[in-house]
Amino acid sequence: MPRRPLLLATLLSALLAAGPALAQGAPPGMPGTSAIQSEDARLLPVFAPHGMVASQEAKATRIGVDVLKRGGNAVDAAVAVGFALAVTLPRAGNLGGGGFMMVHLAARNETVALDYRETAPAAATTTMFLGPDGTPDPRASTATGKAVGVPGTVRGLAEALERYGSGRFSLAELVAPAERLSREGIVVDDDLADSLPRAAGRLGAWPSSRAVFFNGDRPFGWGERLVQADLAATLRAIQAGGPDAFYRGPVAARLAGAVRAAGGVMTEGDLADYRTVLRRPVRGTYRGYDVVAMPPPSSGGVHLIEILNILEGFDLGASGAGSAAAIHLMAEAMKQAYADRATFLGDPDRITVPVAGLTAKPYAARLRALIDPERARPADAVKAGDPLPFESDQTTHFSVVDRDGNAVSNTYTLNFSYGLGLVAEGTGVLLNNEMDDFSAKPGAQNAYGLVGSEANAVAPGARPLSSMTPTFLFRDGRLALVTGSPGGSRIISTVLQVITGLIDFRLNLAEAVAAPRIHHQWRPDALLVETGLSPDTLALLRARGHRVVVGSASGSANSILVVPGGLAGAADPRQRGTLADGQ
Ligand code: GLY
Repeated sequence: MPRRPLLLATLLSALLAAGPALAQGAPPGMPGTSAIQSEDARLLPVFAPHGMVASQEAKATRIGVDVLKRGGNAVDAAVAVGFALAVTLPRAGNLGGGGFMMVHLAARNETVALDYRETAPAAATTTMFLGPDGTPDPRASTATGKAVGVPGTVRGLAEALERYGSGRFSLAELVAPAERLSREGIVVDDDLADSLPRAAGRLGAWPSSRAVFFNGDRPFGWGERLVQADLAATLRAIQAGGPDAFYRGPVAARLAGAVRAAGGVMTEGDLADYRTVLRRPVRGTYRGYDVVAMPPPSSGGVHLIEILNILEGFDLGASGAGSAAAIHLMAEAMKQAYADRATFLGDPDRITVPVAGLTAKPYAARLRALIDPERARPADAVKAGDPLPFESDQTTHFSVVDRDGNAVSNTYTLNFSYGLGLVAEGTGVLLNNEMDDFSAKPGAQNAYGLVGSEANAVAPGARPLSSMTPTFLFRDGRLALVTGSPGGSRIISTVLQVITGLIDFRLNLAEAVAAPRIHHQWRPDALLVETGLSPDTLALLRARGHRVVVGSASGSANSILVVPGGLAGAADPRQRGTLADGQ
């Protein structure tokens, strides 16, 4: 059997070997690993000794596991998963979007952050999302060709392979499963069957998208076969010509032509000029663990660390998982971080982001002192400090660890579910609407209600501010956790709660991923909670002054934890068809 449930005996022996709280050790198969584990196992993670993939779609996970079994490393597997999700999870997996890949290279004990975020076209202007009256025009930034940022995914995945792949697989070999699935077709089920009807209006607005995703006057439904022949041809072009076959020539001409026909400004030159950026990850610590996450132009890592720093001064564990006391403290810490996000964060290649200050323990101590454990502060009372972003599961995250301890934490996106909804005619490529992640003007909210400042203004070539938070935890220099999530503005709070679930509340990984989540982003001044918290808890939170809103599910935190003897994986149960699997 390539995979087996994590047996209680395995769990118990791991715990006996490791002490009462946090298990550590160097199990066979993983050089010098550490683990976080709980004594209770209401839900069990999947276990595999020699490598694992956790993603939002089962076929893509299996493709990644197959690459690992054939001797590929974590990056080889991640590249195959990234291309496969563009076919099997088209609402978020993509060629026409962008994202961030964190890579941990075990032999070099080095962690790198590959930024393949979309960029604003050269003809973009600061006022392009303002109407004639000077007020933001959300339609322009979400539903027209102007919304499209220059896609980074294809170059990002190809460069990841070139720099960090094992050398055993060519790009063409790793694209092959995606090409086959798009050419032969896939049966519409699980998340695809759930998400297509919800996006019918936006997809149906474009004839080129109807031609791919519609069967007559409705989207393909459960059990029907979705064939993406044009996408298969684009993938074959990439197999034959590498990323240049996407960024130059006939495919690029079609992409740019589709954007301009939809009122946008992206040109073939923008595509030819697209570059990824290698960045230094942002680092922090939390209760003895090293937190290594995505730096700007994502706000994710900075504010994850800021919130963890604030919370480190409270004994969250003593309050208990899901308690009003713990939720209150987490919400107050989130408010502060999102207020800072609105003021300070943007593209680090254009502005100076005060990363060191925002992630400094003394800064967090000052913010912590402003928190009343008994009373919620209204958003108006929370201001950005002086350090010297609702429903949005359109992004997707996957985690990979190989037998040598190399790891990938990858989050990528089209922004909205199915992005702009526009398939560029003749390419099969769904285009993003990532330009909405810029601030149309200082103080304006984007589709997630996130407020931004001049720091996140539209500028030619700039990267829009993101919340994507691909993250690693290390203990004593050894990989402990690979995590991340979709969720728009709620990505940061989702990743935070996987970490606090494991470390503070001693949940196992499956429990930490499944536990009801909460979110506060400063503005709007509302505490969002998933279903699953007791009415008593909600009443206690309201008594503290929180405006509690019970809302829809948040995130898809497909994660892998290093445990004694191997790896524990948890695919998020909030969507159908997610899978953690290994070898
Ligand atoms: N488009 C959502 C994000 O990047 O945060």
